[in-house]
Amino acid sequence: LVLSTDDHSRIILKAENSHDNSDYINASPIMDHDPRNPAYIAAQGPLPATVTDFWQMVWENGCVVIVMLTPLTENGVKQCYHYWPDEGSNLYHIYEVNLVSEHIWCEDFLVRSFYLKNLHTNETRTVTQFHFLSWTDQSVPSSTRSLLDFRRKINKCYRGRSCPIIVHCSQGSDGAGRSGTYILIDMVLNKMAKG
Ligand SMILES: *[C@@H]1O[C@H](CO)[C@@H](O)[C@H](O)[C@H]1NC(C)=O
Repeated sequence: LVLSTDDHSRIILKAENSHDNSDYINASPIMDHDPRNPAYIAAQGPLPATVTDFWQMVWENGCVVIVMLTPLTENGVKQCYHYWPDEGSNLYHIYEVNLVSEHIWCEDFLVRSFYLKNLHTNETRTVTQFHFLSWTDQSVPSSTRSLLDFRRKINKCYRGRSCPIIVHCSQGSDGAGRSGTYILIDMVLNKMAKG
């Protein structure tokens, strides 16, 4: 993602809840019909140094859905930090993440369910991550049909909510490729469905 530095186009973390007392994360709110509440957050794929900020952002924005559009590695090159536990739980600062389930839908995507707990307040929330595996950088999704199935599953899970959907691809991309494309497709299809 292009480094988000303008306060109007970046997500601001609560510095007092952050592991390094910083309010910064490289992520941008994307508005649709409501100018006050973003429909999406386009985020940089987490790095080892930003993973706690990422979970803080999930927590503070009330997010329940994460859309991940990159494989973890492409041709042996790391694309994104493995920011969730493979089993059991991991603690990221005060955010405890438990892997509840992992469901492989098809060769193109899988769905993971997490139980997220804020250890300061003991509040908990279920977060679902939709991970598309076969759309590589500077390319097109391996299957359009799979991508549309993927979107349908996401919206079925999200239905009735008003929190932003977090969309991210790799660490190094500018967010205008896969993340921007996914958000545009979702916005346009939602508008078409509403007539
Ligand atoms: C959170 O739970 C722990 C363990 O049950 C308890 O000791 C602590 O007081 C709780 N904190 C709050 C803020 O409720």
